[in-house]
Amino acid sequence: MASSRSYCLLLLLIASDSFSCHVLGAKHLDGNLKKKKNPLEYIGRCFLFPAPNLPHLFTFLTGFLNNGNFEQSPKPSNLKKTVLKGTRSLPGWETKGLVEFIAGGPQPGGMYFPVAHGAHAVRLGNEATISQTVAVKPGSLYALSFVASRTCAQNEVLTVSVPPQSGDLPLQTLYCSNGGDTYAWGFKPNTTLVKITFHNPGVQEDPACGPLIDAVHLKELLPPFPTRDNLVKNPGFEEGPRRPLTHSGNGILLPPKQEDKVSPLPGWIIESLKSVKYIDAQHYNVPVGKSAVELVAGRESAIAQIIRTVPGKLYALTFAVGDAKNECHGSMAVVAFAAKDSFTVPFQSSGDGKFKNASFKFRAISARTRLTFFSSNYHTRKDDYVSLCGPVIDQVRVFPIKA
Ligand SMILES: *[C@@H]1O[C@H](CO)[C@@H](O)[C@H](O)[C@H]1NC(C)=O
Ligand SMILES: *[C@@H]1O[C@H](CO)[C@@H](O)[C@H](O)[C@H]1NC(C)=O
Repeated sequence: MASSRSYCLLLLLIASDSFSCHVLGAKHLDGNLKKKKNPLEYIGRCFLFPAPNLPHLFTFLTGFLNNGNFEQSPKPSNLKKTVLKGTRSLPGWETKGLVEFIAGGPQPGGMYFPVAHGAHAVRLGNEATISQTVAVKPGSLYALSFVASRTCAQNEVLTVSVPPQSGDLPLQTLYCSNGGDTYAWGFKPNTTLVKITFHNPGVQEDPACGPLIDAVHLKELLPPFPTRDNLVKNPGFEEGPRRPLTHSGNGILLPPKQEDKVSPLPGWIIESLKSVKYIDAQHYNVPVGKSAVELVAGRESAIAQIIRTVPGKLYALTFAVGDAKNECHGSMAVVAFAAKDSFTVPFQSSGDGKFKNASFKFRAISARTRLTFFSSNYHTRKDDYVSLCGPVIDQVRVFPIKA
């Protein structure tokens, strides 16, 4: 039975005060793992379940899913040209329907598939599905991130589900011109084993039409709390779906309609129709710390947070507005709402990564106040006119002040 199953070899190295773990087949594990000092906790998380019906199961805190980069190829006998045969041909994954194993670059028939991460990806045809079961901590918040790009239809949709959550990601808007848009999707499991599923609900004339998926990564997120001098949770966006460096060069899109309880940006709600972009200090200019949010979709996208306030009390709201030093030029403005008030912060960007601090006062009218931020204008990068971009916000702070 064991021979019919591929399994991961677990190699645990415990040194005096440091240790690391390698799960063969899962090529990268985030450096965060190495920071954990308790070997027992670590062993628990890296334990390989000998579950007979779940062939590729192992647990991790943060890292790529088993064959999450699709760099382990199916056996040639399990492929008919590019199409996977059966449901167990793709190492690490279960597949249903027409799923292709794709090598990046020019394709027969004249198409070109950009694969930004490694050499391979999968393509989900009409109503096709790929899934993988992973072990998680019930009640913890997770960010599932992955690269998704549409390949032919104008409005491709990708359904992502990790019970009890499920959502549709519209892939119609090109946020980045080189084909590798990375998305993050938040979920909070209530079981120890969850099945992560990507499904193409579309039915196109060409049954192979559908999104490319690559670089599937999972990260556990810490719950955010307000502090004594700031009522805003996760105020500098420091907790979020950050990934290994080489995989986040385009930033990470946070799709719309994500509630604060399961948002991949802990504490924050991603509102309305389009995504906002999570950016890091290694690839962009961020005002403070390691991360910030770029409002890339004008008035069609906003981030919001509900904070606790005392009705009638006066509060200060401060935040930083700038540009990411990513060829995003022009006359920008961030609009903020708090209680009954709205504030506009103009920002003239010459694309050199500057920022300024904005400061306002508002009077709370109830026990909960919704803070909302959006970009009042639309912008595209000066160097390609395709990739959406916009003002950056960071370091949001609310605290009570004397009248
Ligand atoms: C998990 O949550 C869903 C939806 O909230 C619920 O229907 C289901 O019964 C829960 N499962 C467990 C094991 O608690
Ligand atoms: C903006 O405020 C931050 C603190 O939130 C501070 O560190 C920074 O120096 C201020 N920058 C400017 C340009 O005023």
